[in-house]
Amino acid sequence: MIKQAIIPLAGLGTRLLPITSVFAKELLPINGKPGIEYILDECIEAGIKEIILIISNKKEIIRKYFYNDKFYQSIIKKKKDPRIIKEYKKILFYKKKIKFVYQNKPLGTGDAVLKTKKFIKNKYFLMLLPDDLIMKKNCSKDMIKIHKKHKASIMASLKVNKNNVDRWGIFSIAKTLDKDNFKISDVIEKPKTKDAPSNNAVIGRYILNKDIFNFLKNQKKGKGGEIHITDAIRKMIFEKYFFIGHKFTGKYLDCGTMNGYIKSGIEISKL
Ligand code: G1P
Repeated sequence: MIKQAIIPLAGLGTRLLPITSVFAKELLPINGKPGIEYILDECIEAGIKEIILIISNKKEIIRKYFYNDKFYQSIIKKKKDPRIIKEYKKILFYKKKIKFVYQNKPLGTGDAVLKTKKFIKNKYFLMLLPDDLIMKKNCSKDMIKIHKKHKASIMASLKVNKNNVDRWGIFSIAKTLDKDNFKISDVIEKPKTKDAPSNNAVIGRYILNKDIFNFLKNQKKGKGGEIHITDAIRKMIFEKYFFIGHKFTGKYLDCGTMNGYIKSGIEISKL
């Protein structure tokens, strides 16, 4: 059963500087709605009961977004505006499902995951990276279904342009399970084009076995001096853990760069 999700939000967001020097990119509106809410909605609709948000003391603004009750209550008392009441109810609904964990040093996604170790209850959990929006089809929900069938770890995947492989984790396929699912034989974090085993990229949805915490404990820093989840996954694959690459069918939007962010708003407005 997959009932918990984690969302790493403590990154510095350097790809979106200068705005991220003072603001959390995950709260930036995409077609009028903060990016993080798309991710929360996907989790909740997929049946997730508890969502762990990994923030840092520099990103307290994210906690504040969900814990601004006094402010809402006083405005609602004065204005009785149905729109504001509706927005506040939505925040209260999210608040029942979320919990905060801190990663104060930006040491990478692998380190962020390790911070949630003592809160994960079941053998498998879901992780969503907030830069990656997948619209029209709930990717997390589909991955949970595939997990039930194969009892494996799963990563969302997409074929990318060979010249851009150094933006992603790239995996190679051991065998095809069905038209959308592949058994993975290796994964490399942001390889150069000449070193990439394929152009199958990992997109930010993962179902992970909690044994990953044991691998992360000893995980050395990799590319850019960060502890990467991809490097721990690679070790697990070499230790015969079953990882599936799932070619998702929804519409992918990369909000982690300024161009992608701008395009995402336009694309969502057209859906
Ligand atoms: C992370 C992962 C990378 C993955 C990507 C998906 O990179 O490290 O393997 O392909 O997310 O968005 P980041 O976006 O944090 O640089």
